[in-house]
Amino acid sequence: MHCVKKLMDDMYWVGASDRRLALFENLYPVPLGISYNAYLVLDEKTVLIDTVDKAVTGIFFENIRHALSGRPLDYLIVNHVEPDHAAAIEDLIRCYPNLKIVSNAKGLAMIRQFFDFDADACAVTVKEGETLSTGRHSFRFFMAPMVHWPETMVTFDETDHILYSGDAFGTFGAINGNLYADEVDFPQQWLPEARRYYANIVGKYGTQVQSLLKKAADLPIEQICSLHGPVWRKDLGWFIEKYNRWSSYQPEDRAVMIVSGSIYGHTEHAAEILAFDLAEAGVKNIVLHDVSSADASHLVAEAFRCSHLVLASSTHNAEIFPPMHHFLLDLKAHNLQNRTVALIENGTWAASSGKLMGQILAGMKNIELLEGTVSLRSAVDGERRQALKELAKRLAASLNG
Ligand code: FEO
Repeated sequence: MHCVKKLMDDMYWVGASDRRLALFENLYPVPLGISYNAYLVLDEKTVLIDTVDKAVTGIFFENIRHALSGRPLDYLIVNHVEPDHAAAIEDLIRCYPNLKIVSNAKGLAMIRQFFDFDADACAVTVKEGETLSTGRHSFRFFMAPMVHWPETMVTFDETDHILYSGDAFGTFGAINGNLYADEVDFPQQWLPEARRYYANIVGKYGTQVQSLLKKAADLPIEQICSLHGPVWRKDLGWFIEKYNRWSSYQPEDRAVMIVSGSIYGHTEHAAEILAFDLAEAGVKNIVLHDVSSADASHLVAEAFRCSHLVLASSTHNAEIFPPMHHFLLDLKAHNLQNRTVALIENGTWAASSGKLMGQILAGMKNIELLEGTVSLRSAVDGERRQALKELAKRLAASLNG
């Protein structure tokens, strides 16, 4: 049975959610599921905007058939060829042999790479700023390379002022009946997942997201229809501002995140003492994570949120404790910038993790390393207890400054 949502007189959400998927992209846990959004416009010509992941093609085809009510499908606009949105293209061509596929040259080249059908026979190639008229609607295309792949574009419906934004403004999380962001408590229930989605999926490409935001600023957008998560029709500025902040690598909160990489618990104990010292100094909303048990995607998202990071790591085989090493490389890979970082190292006979963490941080942009790495020898002693107190004071001063 179909599960279609009418969004406008002639526009329908025909996507679907997956609540069984453990790892999105076989990498990121999605405990709240994920939606694959696709939209169908019933104009003089019928237009489908993007498709879905192969996991949900059954319901997707039921949705399309129901919404089309026997009409043929004339156009498929492909904004993004990643298989979570493009898996159904070949099956669509089989069902609707006269379907035209509208995408840019890079998108069509990727479609040829992924699929075996004759894409050239049905391709309509569009370039930056070009339009497709389908009757009442006029769709204008804007290239959005690396948001999130090189071929990515967005489509603006100039008639109803809807931005079909591809992955941009997407979020992890299944659609649970309420399709609009203003029908859910987005700041409380969705924002952490939206941030985790942004930081991990497109966080590396802040410059390209900024370019897209500049293009979008010139458009009279009334709704944003992303490929994942709720549709925005109110308070668009609130979410756009989040995107502006994340993509310019500015922290959302002046807050401290402590991450400890601890083998037997002594390094974590030092991190916890520091957290209490920070609280004593008046710092609020401190978060402390164990790098071995927290999922890396959550830690990356928290690093995008917080202004100050404390990395406390054991030394392991004369290197950084592996999960901490991985986390730091993840932060670097996602281009994290503009943060203040303090370090705690531990080593029973040759502590070197502090120096090594500093070397990775030195290769990142605009990272201020707070002076005075606290160097533990196995466990916190009187001297290091004092050093932690001093570090808490410096952190608190930096936060307040
Ligand atoms: Fe949701 Fe980049 O695909």
